[in-house]
Amino acid sequence: MGGDETTRHVISGGMYQLLLYPQEREKLVSRPEILGVAVEEMLRWVTPIQNMSRTATRDVELRGQKLRAGDRLLLLYPSANRDASVFPEPFRFDVERAPNDHVAFGGYGAHFCLGASLARLELRVMFEEILRRLPALELASDAPPRLRPSNFITGIESMPVRVG
Ligand code: HEM
Repeated sequence: MGGDETTRHVISGGMYQLLLYPQEREKLVSRPEILGVAVEEMLRWVTPIQNMSRTATRDVELRGQKLRAGDRLLLLYPSANRDASVFPEPFRFDVERAPNDHVAFGGYGAHFCLGASLARLELRVMFEEILRRLPALELASDAPPRLRPSNFITGIESMPVRVG
């Protein structure tokens, strides 16, 4: 689940943005070398893992909030990835966004996603191939794609397209 549900949701969610905004897609078709940067924006935008839990190991103050040892914390990654103090215009999908310090892979520390390098490679190769092989790809419906109802790992469940 950690390697499949996540990566596929970034593929479909990233593709949806490229189909909605052809000018962003065109940038990747004409300059495939920026795909690595674009993949980071797809990861930020989709953030398929919605949350993780942590337990404070000691008393600490974080941005004015006092946390006590033993407190359970809910880390809301999609929210962090729309933090306007970190990302200018956070609700704009920008394939050239840099820097892009998103936390889609869980941020920092010992539990940072073990598969991040593989996921990044899979995403880059997938978009290299889709953009090259399916130049006429388009959405088959104006309706927003159906999402998987989940409060843990979520993304697009179904997105009909025409391949031209
Ligand atoms: C776009 C794809 C992926 C995303 C967004 C993602 C995201 C995450 C997140 C948020 C965590 C939790 C980090 C934390 O607790 O702080 C995690 C952990 C993990 N991921 Fe991924 N992941 C992806 C792909 C993969 C793949 C492809 C694999 C393996 C083939 C993988 C293996 C793991 C493992 C083993 C952990 C647990 C690490 C630990 O707790 O020490 N992930 N991932």
